[in-house]
Amino acid sequence: MSDYISGVEARKIVRENRRAIKALEQKRREEVASPRQIEMKNPVNLVEFDNLKTWFYTDVGIVKAVDGVSFEVPRGKTVGIVGESGCGKSITSLSLMRLVQKPQGQIVEGAIRFATPEGVKDIARLSEEEMRRIRGNHVAMIFQDPMTSLNPVLRVGPQVDEVIHFHVDDLRARGVITEAGKESVKKRTIEMIEMVGISNAAGVYKMFPFELSGGMVQRVMISMALACAPSLIIADEPTTALDVTIQAQILDLLRDLKDRINASIMLITHDLGVVAEMADFVVVMYSGRIVERGTAYDIYKNPAHPYTRGLMKSKPVLNHNVERLYSIPGRVPNPVHMPNYCYFRDRCEFAGPECGTQYPGEQELSPSHRVACFKPVEGRVL
Ligand SMILES: Nc1ncnc2c1ncn2[C@@H]1O[C@H](COP(=O)(O)OP(=O)(O)OP(=O)(O)O)[C@@H](O)[C@H]1O
Ligand SMILES: [Mg+2]
Repeated sequence: MSDYISGVEARKIVRENRRAIKALEQKRREEVASPRQIEMKNPVNLVEFDNLKTWFYTDVGIVKAVDGVSFEVPRGKTVGIVGESGCGKSITSLSLMRLVQKPQGQIVEGAIRFATPEGVKDIARLSEEEMRRIRGNHVAMIFQDPMTSLNPVLRVGPQVDEVIHFHVDDLRARGVITEAGKESVKKRTIEMIEMVGISNAAGVYKMFPFELSGGMVQRVMISMALACAPSLIIADEPTTALDVTIQAQILDLLRDLKDRINASIMLITHDLGVVAEMADFVVVMYSGRIVERGTAYDIYKNPAHPYTRGLMKSKPVLNHNVERLYSIPGRVPNPVHMPNYCYFRDRCEFAGPECGTQYPGEQELSPSHRVACFKPVEGRVL
C-alpha cells in the first residue's frame, strides 16, 4: 500500500479522528461519573493489564501503539518488558500512569486494574484527581535520562522534599512519615538518599545536579521514586544513558532495593541481559502486541516465538566470539497499515501458510508460559 495520502483523504482522517476522540472522551466522562466496584482476577497481583488498547489518532491514520495487551505484575515481583524500539513498551507504562499524550493518544479499550490500599481501581476509568493521588503515591517512574529529569537550577535535596510535600497527607495517613513539618520531610529525603547508596547524604542534599555524576543523579532519581513508598516502580530504560560500569551499579541497587522495599517493578528495556539479571517474569512485545510471556526461565531457556529467539540470538554474550552479531532480517510493519495476519510473518524464518491467514491467538505452553504463534519453536534452543 502506498504511504501517500491525498488532501481529500487527509481531511477525512482528521474529521474521523475528531469524531472518534469526542466519542471516547464522552464515554470516559460517563464511566468516571459512575464508577463500578471491581476485583482483581488474582489477589497475588498488584496490576492486571486486561486487553489494553492505546491508540494514537494521527493525521495519517490510527497508530495502534498498544493493541490488546494482557499481562500481570504480581506483588513484590519484577516484570521485564522487552522488544524493539517502537513496539509499545513505553506507551504501555504511560497508559498505566495515564500520561499518554492527549487528545490524540487514547485508551480505547480494556482495563488496567491496580490494587491500591483503598481498593482496586481501573486506571482507564479514573478521574484526573484520583489519578494524581495514585501517581507518586502508589506508582513511581524512573526515566531513561536522569540529567534532564531534575531541575538544574535547584539543589537536589529540596527537589526530593517537594515530591514528599506534595503527597504529605497521604504519607502521614499511611504511616510513612509521622509529621508533616519541614524537618520531618527533610529527614525522609536524607534517609532515601542514604538508601540508594550515597554516602554523605546530608552533603549531597545541598548540591546542584551538575555537581553530581550521571550515576549519582540516577541514584537521586531513584530515591525520589522511593520517597513515597510506592507499591509499583516503573523503570523505563533506567540505565541506557549510563556507561557500562555505572549501569551494573544501578542494576545492583535496584535489585537490592527490590528486596528491601517489597515493591513490584516494571522494567522496560531492549537489553535482554538486563532483564535476565533482574526479572522474575518477562513480556516480549512486538508491534503493539505481546508475542510471548512467561517466567524469566521460560523465556531464556525455552523461547518459543521466533521473534524471541531472534532477540536472544542478537544478544552479545561474554567470552563468546562471533564474526558478526545476528540481526533479525526485515523491518517492523508500518504502524498505520498493520497486516491482518501475524505481524512477524514477513521476517520469520519459520513462517508457513497459516501464518498469512490471521493474527495468531495466544496459546498456553505451560501454566506460566504463553505464546502467540502458529508455529512455536519446540524444545530447548539455548
Ligand atoms: N504522540 C504520539 N503520536 C503518534 N504515535 C506515537 C506517539 N507516541 C508514540 N507513538 C507510536 O507508538 C508506538 C509505540 O511507541 P513506544 O514509545 O511505546 O515504543 P517503545 O517500545 O517504548 O520504543 P523505544 O524502545 O524506542 O522506547 C510507536 O510506533 C510510536 O511511533
Ligand atoms: Mg520507550
